[in-house]
Amino acid sequence: MNIKNNLDLENLIKNKVLICPKCHNNSFDIHSFLIACSQCKTEYSINKEGIVRFIDNNCQQPFFFSTVNLNTFSEQHNTPFFIFSEKIINDNIDILFNAAKESNLKIKIYYSVKTNFNRFILNIVKNNINHASVSSGLELSAALTSGFEGKDLSFDGPVYEEKDILSAINAGVELFNIDSYEQAVLLNRLAQENNRFLKISPRLNFFSGNIFYKINYLFTDRFGFSNEEIKRLLKDISSFKNLKLSGFAFHLGSQLNNVSAYLSAIKKIICLIKKHNLKDIKHINIGGGFPAKGIRKNSFMSILFRFFGMNLKRKEINDNFISELNREISSLFKKNNIDLEIIYQPGRYIVGDAGILVSRIFSVKEKWIFVDASVNYLPENFLGLNRRIINISKLHGKKSFKYSIAGRTLCSDIFNINVKMPRPDRGDFIVLESAGAYSLSRANNFTTVIPDIYLIKENSSDIELTKKEENVSDIYEGKF
Ligand SMILES: Cc1ncc(COP(=O)(O)O)c(C=O)c1O
Repeated sequence: MNIKNNLDLENLIKNKVLICPKCHNNSFDIHSFLIACSQCKTEYSINKEGIVRFIDNNCQQPFFFSTVNLNTFSEQHNTPFFIFSEKIINDNIDILFNAAKESNLKIKIYYSVKTNFNRFILNIVKNNINHASVSSGLELSAALTSGFEGKDLSFDGPVYEEKDILSAINAGVELFNIDSYEQAVLLNRLAQENNRFLKISPRLNFFSGNIFYKINYLFTDRFGFSNEEIKRLLKDISSFKNLKLSGFAFHLGSQLNNVSAYLSAIKKIICLIKKHNLKDIKHINIGGGFPAKGIRKNSFMSILFRFFGMNLKRKEINDNFISELNREISSLFKKNNIDLEIIYQPGRYIVGDAGILVSRIFSVKEKWIFVDASVNYLPENFLGLNRRIINISKLHGKKSFKYSIAGRTLCSDIFNINVKMPRPDRGDFIVLESAGAYSLSRANNFTTVIPDIYLIKENSSDIELTKKEENVSDIYEGKF
């Protein structure tokens, strides 16, 4: 069955193909893609594949995302799709600003553009936040197009391409969170050639935490300055005539739920400032990593348990994380008689839980559920991050089965394994939560196109289709 429009549906009803499972009547009234039995008035929804779904509002409570009943919305639209909430983004930003106001710290917030630089996201963020951090020419252009001013941007990343840095300098960017001595040399030359004076804030390379973080550190120690490198930079700093050392930076990772890791890094920076008697330091940039809702960082043990079908009880995300962090930094500064500006560079905290990916079950094969989405749209590996996955068609069903959820492509296309769920059916809708960060900005076209993206506007009941599903010519134009 391939139902494309109401005409197809009318024909099915005219030809008496559809029968009400409840009262066996075969006449229906049509309301868009909802039909109601004309005798018992029971409502059903019908999708293009002809799946008829009984809508019983008494026993099946709908799943709401922001103000939208997702069960109804998903029935009426093609899956998969992303849907974002402007209100959630605004609320997340408010939490950051309110926590900053309540503290006695000087805090500046830079949105980490790489997290999600879709135009509509940057526009919402720009309405609230003036500063942003970029790490490539592409992000720089996206930020400038959305109204960020060059002077309010910072540039970071381990790879500084000369043309990108020149564009940044020409756009008025002043602050560079450099990653290496080599970048200082490049920046100083470009600043001299362009008659500019630039601020640098070297990223320092710290690790903290348990054995799992130590393993992670084998890969992350490529970012930032080691102890040796920073000593060399500090020794030579006066020879970089067009650079001014204005602060230090670090970024410890994403989805951290650990205030003490930040504190220990800040303490090391305070020691460095004191040891080298650095009087002109104005700020400490503590990067991002604040925990978003709907997603957890896996520990080594939680992965192990999950493989054997067991779930470790996990520590809840601390709702007061930001306030607690501010309080601790404030008391640390007080103790050390220090009054520096703190720069936050969050990404996931702002947009992570503001977006979800909705998909439909293609098939159920023993313990495997295949959905019509793919990890192409959510490339972060489930071994590192554990995303909440909900069958919204069985929202209140008993979670007595364990399923592994796979996408439509190849081997590594797995959203999670051994997730407790009610028994699913083909056609059920699956919501992948906290899909707003590192999803669209990292998505690829491996065998599929990027799906429709909707935005629920905050001050109206509008749901805007901000970007239509790509089509084949979007992808192949100019490729052959
Ligand atoms: C230097 C830097 N700052 C900030 C962020 C944003 O991190 P998060 O999205 O976890 O807040 C990142 C992300 O990779 C980063 O590399």
